[in-house]
Amino acid sequence: MNLVFLGAPGVGKGTQADRLVAQYGMRKISTGDLLREAVRNGTELGQQAKAYMDRGQLVPDAVVIGLVKETLAKTGDGSGFILDGFPRTVPQAQALEHVLEEQGIRLHGVINFRLSREEIVRRLSGRRSCPNCQATYHVQFSPSRQGEQCDRCGATLVQRSDDRQDAIETRLKVYEEQTAPLINFYEKKQILSHLESEGSVDAVYERLTKVLEACSAA
Ligand code: AP5
Repeated sequence: MNLVFLGAPGVGKGTQADRLVAQYGMRKISTGDLLREAVRNGTELGQQAKAYMDRGQLVPDAVVIGLVKETLAKTGDGSGFILDGFPRTVPQAQALEHVLEEQGIRLHGVINFRLSREEIVRRLSGRRSCPNCQATYHVQFSPSRQGEQCDRCGATLVQRSDDRQDAIETRLKVYEEQTAPLINFYEKKQILSHLESEGSVDAVYERLTKVLEACSAA
């Protein structure tokens, strides 16, 4: 299946996408991960993107659309993909339609993750990431067994620069203004399903698999 994961920052899109990747071998295409990789590698694109990301603002559409187009062109092995965090604006969604049509790819579903603002802030402010293997933890809900070190590779965990309180506020505002209109965009295309993202990672995953069964039957 080819899916889009939509939702505010911190709702758990990346966590659930990783589960689907582990269980079904799907490919996760996260624009946030791709951009952070470009920043780490010090590429020209990464240098352009860094200032926007640190402030919690969106990277310009043209940059992100080019990145996704390039990645989708390399994907085509039929195992299915999850677009995590893309599209995030109406022009990005329109560009995605065009690219999918051009490459003869069908989109099976858009999953809209819903969570209270209070819980979003709790999840984002407690998130820790591994700068080496990119594993994600939460200080309260899913801590590393080794404390400050990554369970997978032993590197020291860090807090993302955009998980500071001021950047979280900006990201939530940007989401409401620029990304939330996509709910209506995809509802009109009758391809949108809502997913309640409250509760444990396992509970959300169970709900997600039910939603996906319904998508695949449609
Ligand atoms: P990106 O990396 O995409 O960040 P985001 O959308 O803000 O989403 P997050 O990764 O913060 O949250 P998530 O929903 O994946 O939650 P997660 O699973 O990690 O983008 C970063 C930046 O890049 C943007 O601000 C922008 O600048 C740029 N960018 C990216 N895409 C772009 C685009 N298309 N256009 C323009 N710019 C773009 O979970 C969060 C925490 O909660 C974790 O600690 C996790 O362990 C925990 N958790 C998850 N699920 C649960 C649960 N059920 N119970 C308890 N804890 C949980």
